[in-house]
Amino acid sequence: MNAHDSEKVVGTLLHEGYNQVATPEQANYIFYNTCSIRDKAEQKVFNKLQHFKNSGKGKVIALLGCVAQQEGAKIFDRAPHVSLVAGSASYAKLPEMLVQIESGNRRVTGLDFDTPEAFDTPYTRRDNPFRTFITIIEGCDKACAYCVVPFTRGPERSRTAESILDEARRLADSGITEVTLLGQNVNSYRDPSASKWDFARLLDEVGRIPGFRRVRFTTSHPRDFVKPIIDAIDDNPNLCNHVHLPVQSGSSRVLEGMRRLYTRDQYMERIDWMKNANRDIAITTDLIVGFPGETEREFEETLELMEEVEYDAIFAFKYSPRPNTSALAMGDHIPDEEKTRRIVIVNELQRAIQIRRHSELIGNVEEVHVEGRHESLQQWMGKTSQNRTLNFSGRDAEALSGSYVPVRVTRGGPNSLVGEALSVN
Ligand code: 5AD
Ligand code: SF4
Repeated sequence: MNAHDSEKVVGTLLHEGYNQVATPEQANYIFYNTCSIRDKAEQKVFNKLQHFKNSGKGKVIALLGCVAQQEGAKIFDRAPHVSLVAGSASYAKLPEMLVQIESGNRRVTGLDFDTPEAFDTPYTRRDNPFRTFITIIEGCDKACAYCVVPFTRGPERSRTAESILDEARRLADSGITEVTLLGQNVNSYRDPSASKWDFARLLDEVGRIPGFRRVRFTTSHPRDFVKPIIDAIDDNPNLCNHVHLPVQSGSSRVLEGMRRLYTRDQYMERIDWMKNANRDIAITTDLIVGFPGETEREFEETLELMEEVEYDAIFAFKYSPRPNTSALAMGDHIPDEEKTRRIVIVNELQRAIQIRRHSELIGNVEEVHVEGRHESLQQWMGKTSQNRTLNFSGRDAEALSGSYVPVRVTRGGPNSLVGEALSVN
């Protein structure tokens, strides 16, 4: 999401006549887009800002993203060399804010959420000519006890289906074949205009735009993840057979403490829909270990759930206390060494599951959307519809990037597959 936000910022400024340079040293203005999802990400921001204090002398430094939104004008006290602080809903207003700076104002902020122009980013400068993102909904109305996002990205605002489809068709016309529909919680999408499309309908319609071959979406919330989404994937081969469904914990007691609004059984019901689908749907997830009060037994429930689901990939995190969140009052009971022990166990188990799953794919033919080439390995690299990395040989070094190539899987490692392209007739 942040990578795509940066594309919006770059495009907006290029349109205004600014030029992009290769390094911060060459710049007159530095725009630093930031993340505050965990404390480590936030600390990185303050270290980097400290670095800009010396190296950024004489430059305008703008802090963007979630740390900017979270800390607001307080940033100016902590880092007086920063002159602009703006959250993600204000990027369309950056040119205006820069005018204020150029006319001598040393402290400019953009922290409102109710900016209707938040979605109007017609100038987004996309980095990849074949594969891109489309924002369909901003913000989050859930209140997970550990999560800072509702505070940094504000309440949910869905974009009109018409505007999404317009952007999607323009992208298809420009040669893009793969898109990811983006939102903190894409499933709670609801078209604010008269059509009232829900997420499953929107997904299906985007998947039917001529030129698109792969449509993905992220992130889903289990509570809002309904069966029609699976039916849409079953019925429309342009929708990728991959669902990222963050579970966070395998213990219903911990899920309640996290205010996730579902039990382990309700989550597993959604997993069953996917396992019973006609298409072979890859399932990935996010997990948090060491949430306040998580007992050893509750932690083991997460391991058992991982075994039961056999995820295709996971992102595991150590619980990190965040400002403003309700879990903050619960303290941080689990010592960091214990969180580390738990996350190591989770990652080792997942590694074993992935080795097993990948070895089952040997001999299969998978379609790879080619992203580039490892010259040193003389291999092309790309992704399957299930979002696995598949590196392959058997084709010359002529430009394949952006094309779709059938590849026979010959080997499986823990994190990727290796294969040979089928010969072209
Ligand atoms: N501590 C650790 N992990 C977190 N996540 C969100 N907030 C926190 C936190 N305070 C994780 C969740 C979420 C992912 C994007 O980041 O697993 O799904
Ligand atoms: Fe955070 Fe929960 Fe919203 Fe996801 S659903 S962004 S974890 S509050």
